[in-house]
Amino acid sequence: MILKTSAFICPVCKNKTFDLENSLRCMLGHSFDKAKEGYINLLLKNASGKRHGDDKLMVNARKSFLDKGYYAPLREKIGEILGENNVVLDSGCGEGYYTSHFAENNTLLGIDISKDAIKSAAKRCKNATFAVASIAQIPLADKSVDAVINIFAPDSPNEFLRILKKGGRLITATPMEHHLFELKEVVYNNPYKNPPPVYEKDGFTIKSVTEVKYKINLESAEDIEALFKMTPYYYKTSAADQEKLKSLSSLEVSLEFAVTEYIKEK
Ligand SMILES: C[S@@+](CC[C@H](N)C(=O)[O-])C[C@H]1O[C@@H](n2cnc3c(N)ncnc32)[C@H](O)[C@@H]1O
Ligand SMILES: [Zn+2]
Repeated sequence: MILKTSAFICPVCKNKTFDLENSLRCMLGHSFDKAKEGYINLLLKNASGKRHGDDKLMVNARKSFLDKGYYAPLREKIGEILGENNVVLDSGCGEGYYTSHFAENNTLLGIDISKDAIKSAAKRCKNATFAVASIAQIPLADKSVDAVINIFAPDSPNEFLRILKKGGRLITATPMEHHLFELKEVVYNNPYKNPPPVYEKDGFTIKSVTEVKYKINLESAEDIEALFKMTPYYYKTSAADQEKLKSLSSLEVSLEFAVTEYIKEK
């Protein structure tokens, strides 16, 4: 029997794994079941048993909001910068809104620490390979990908450097100063602008920085709340301040991102 090698390495012993019908298995016999949606859980159980990453409610809220197309111009721009025919890791891919688009012209791997997010991504997108895993220990071999995409997910520069091929690219999207300012004006008495993004990263050279700036019209209280829930502010805002948003039925909001393309130096 000829065994097919999978894209992922074993999270326990770091050896390559073989893609069996219902599982991935390494040569030392560590075995990981495939879920019915096709993804693999490569997250080693932690002692606390605590759940990781975004929960189902957050995943579903993000999915229904993104599916309305508000972030499509950002996705288009990143897709243009990424180009075609690359082996790509979407790191912290969430429910796969971006992954599915890039998979049309590239070979896509997606990881996220949230099982609910990966389950949703694997349902949405059949032409990418997904695993539940942490970006702190990416289950990919050294120098195995052409590009890493990181959209509003935690950073892990040393792991990105390890898995990128020589000359490989990291593409990130980060919010700029005025991003979502109108939303903050509703909620806070003294809204502050975001700090300017810090672009430099050790081990990488910046190839390009592209600003993507546009305004969206949110036409329902539901969409206004969904966008707010996607931000870190939601969890830091009092119930009284959250109520202020519920009285609105429409809102024009600025979206402002920096898309940075880095090249691995060595
Ligand atoms: C703001 S969401 C962005 C998701 C997606 N990139 C998008 O823009 O729709 C951040 C994602 O990072 C994931 N995440 C947080 N910590 C992580 C970690 N240590 N390893 C992998 N993913 C992580 C969360 O579960 C969540 O899906
Ligand atoms: Zn193993």
